[in-house]
Amino acid sequence: MFAIDVQNLTKNFRDVVAVDNLTLQVKEGEIYGLVGPDGAGKTTTLRLLSGVLKPDKGEGTVTGFRLFHDREEIKENISYMPQRFALYTELTVEENIRFYADVFEVPPKVWRERAERWLKMSNLFDFKNRLVQNLSGGMKQKVALICALIHTPKMLLLDEPTNGVDPVSRRDFWGILYGLLKEKVTILVSTAYLDEAERCDRIGLLYHGRMLLEGDPAAVKNRFPGQVAEIICGERERVKSLLQDLEGVQDVIVSGDRIHVHLDDFKRRESVVRERLKGADIQAECFAPVSPSLEDVFMSLVQREQKKGEAG
Ligand SMILES: Nc1ncnc2c1ncn2[C@@H]1O[C@H](COP(=O)(O)OP(=O)(O)OP(=O)(O)O)[C@@H](O)[C@H]1O
Ligand SMILES: [Mg+2]
Repeated sequence: MFAIDVQNLTKNFRDVVAVDNLTLQVKEGEIYGLVGPDGAGKTTTLRLLSGVLKPDKGEGTVTGFRLFHDREEIKENISYMPQRFALYTELTVEENIRFYADVFEVPPKVWRERAERWLKMSNLFDFKNRLVQNLSGGMKQKVALICALIHTPKMLLLDEPTNGVDPVSRRDFWGILYGLLKEKVTILVSTAYLDEAERCDRIGLLYHGRMLLEGDPAAVKNRFPGQVAEIICGERERVKSLLQDLEGVQDVIVSGDRIHVHLDDFKRRESVVRERLKGADIQAECFAPVSPSLEDVFMSLVQREQKKGEAG
């Protein structure tokens, strides 16, 4: 049974196609990650699914109800946490939670128990009487999540909930999400962090409103066309410009302190790459094949699409 089952969703804003013929199925109880660069259409997709926006085209169901037509019923089943979730900054953490609990008519005994559990899990319990305006960005995001969850919806739509949140708070945040999966809540989360995408049951890469690739993280990585060789060395940008035009090199991606060279065939190209580095007096600590990461797969697809766009 699908919690989300929509076909050919399309949404235009004047001359921008924000969502382009998107078909999406999310199973009940799974966590699905929507990944894509800025402007890919993630927010628009979530707004369409939640019934905030009317699609120009397309149809389907969300929690069993018809997209947009039955938006009142859908609203009762979902909780949508927008990119900028509105908390009341002049109220305390606990007052905000109580406000959202009241809106959804959650009995005090129930919301108090949940709030206490989640505040403890996210290391916020000691801050429950603090005004929201005096919280850090990461703390605000966690409070927003607790408010969005307080009526335990059937489905959560989260739009980049951990954007700008520090790694410790992000871990707390994901702890709460995993706890919800045990309660059979379906989660659709958009994220720009690929380490978070790795934690999802399935992921989809959105680009210019279209789904470029979809699957579980392991399967997505297996679909990488070619091989990835990793170089560790100090002069990353120089290495990139030296290698990117070599025959057999599809892309050169700088990722943290590493360089990933996307090759058609490592064995065949290895010596040419080594010579090129040696000729430029570059000392590489290592140059060896590695398994493709999600970033490799996504960057190669996005760059291919960009090249197509420039050509056409
Ligand atoms: N209300 C609007 N009016 C006009 N254009 C819009 C509107 N909302 C979105 N767009 C355009 O639609 C496209 C998709 O935007 P969207 O906000 O869905 O992307 P996103 O993937 O959420 O990006 P980000 O990662 O920056 O949040 C962009 O080109 C954006 O400029
Ligand atoms: Mg967005």
